[in-house]
Amino acid sequence: MMKQNLQPLFSLPLLLFFLSHCTRISAQGPAASPNPVPAADAPAPPGPTNVTKILEKSGNFNLLIRLLKTTQVDTQLYSQLNDSNSRLTILAPTDAAFSKLKTGVLNSLTDSQKVELLQFHLLPDFLSISNFQTLSNPVRTQAGDGFEYPLNITTSGNSVNITTGLVNTSISGTVYSDNQLAIYQLDSVLQPYGIFAPKPLPPAPAPSPEKAKHKKKASEDSPVAAVKSAAGSVVCDLSRNGLVSIGVAVVFVAVMVL
Ligand SMILES: *[C@@H]1O[C@H](CO)[C@@H](O)[C@H](O)[C@H]1NC(C)=O
Ligand SMILES: *[C@@H]1O[C@H](CO)[C@@H](O)[C@H](O)[C@H]1NC(C)=O
Ligand SMILES: *[C@@H]1O[C@H](CO)[C@@H](O)[C@H](O)[C@H]1NC(C)=O
Ligand SMILES: *[C@@H]1O[C@H](CO)[C@@H](O)[C@H](O)[C@H]1NC(C)=O
Ligand SMILES: *[C@@H]1O[C@H](CO)[C@@H](O)[C@H](O)[C@H]1NC(C)=O
Repeated sequence: MMKQNLQPLFSLPLLLFFLSHCTRISAQGPAASPNPVPAADAPAPPGPTNVTKILEKSGNFNLLIRLLKTTQVDTQLYSQLNDSNSRLTILAPTDAAFSKLKTGVLNSLTDSQKVELLQFHLLPDFLSISNFQTLSNPVRTQAGDGFEYPLNITTSGNSVNITTGLVNTSISGTVYSDNQLAIYQLDSVLQPYGIFAPKPLPPAPAPSPEKAKHKKKASEDSPVAAVKSAAGSVVCDLSRNGLVSIGVAVVFVAVMVL
């Protein structure tokens, strides 16, 4: 008798517990599926895309990476890509591409020429391979669209040909692509006219500013001071361009005599 009465008493809380547990599980059911979604936070980039890191992973862009670092264009790109509205395509020459340049050429460039050379390889938009068909020539690069930096791109099917007028090459692979940044491999460095075109008379203009400076200095100073400084500089000037210095010295001697 007692046993029979007790059993329902024990089973009622048990049933209630079971029911409440069940409803809680079923209530959690739909809520449970959004819960794992925050795990999708992981693919969301923790910071701007790091171009040098991507290039390092690929392994054949050591010279490009070095150039990006020494010019600090790498940090420029980093902050450029920190703006989620900015889009960029990088045409990345391989180590083999750089080694095709004449020896010493890269080292002979000024710092600003190095920056311009890199900017010539940056297109200020995200371009998938098929997007290249939609470009009109000349294509604008981050080096500007001046006549010194013309870049023409033509496509046929999936092949993308690029010419600077000095270099013909084509895209030989995709290194990286998301919806903000694309990096493509090039087997030649894109040489812009503005930096690599042979210049007609490079040594000619060099001496003339120097001569002009000498003349200007002499005319600005008082005659006595000019004679002194001219006399002091005759010896070293003779070794450089003797005739001009002798001429200058003769003029000053004449001034002194008067
Ligand atoms: C980008 O990655 C490279 C190589 O991993 C690292 O040396 C550099 O500090 C990173 N740049 C930034 C701005 O975090
Ligand atoms: C990215 O931009 C935000 C502001 O838009 C700034 O607070 C943050 O410092 C920037 N991060 C880097 C790494 O430049
Ligand atoms: C691209 O260049 C290759 C040779 O480098 C040439 O055979 C091809 O016709 C060119 N294609 C276009 C669309 O210019
Ligand atoms: C580039 O394209 C423009 C416009 O079509 C053309 O005038 C120019 O000659 C081209 N230059 C080269 C180097 O192909
Ligand atoms: C590039 O290609 C054009 C036409 O395909 C050709 O006329 C020119 O000579 C080539 N230039 C170089 C440097 O190979």
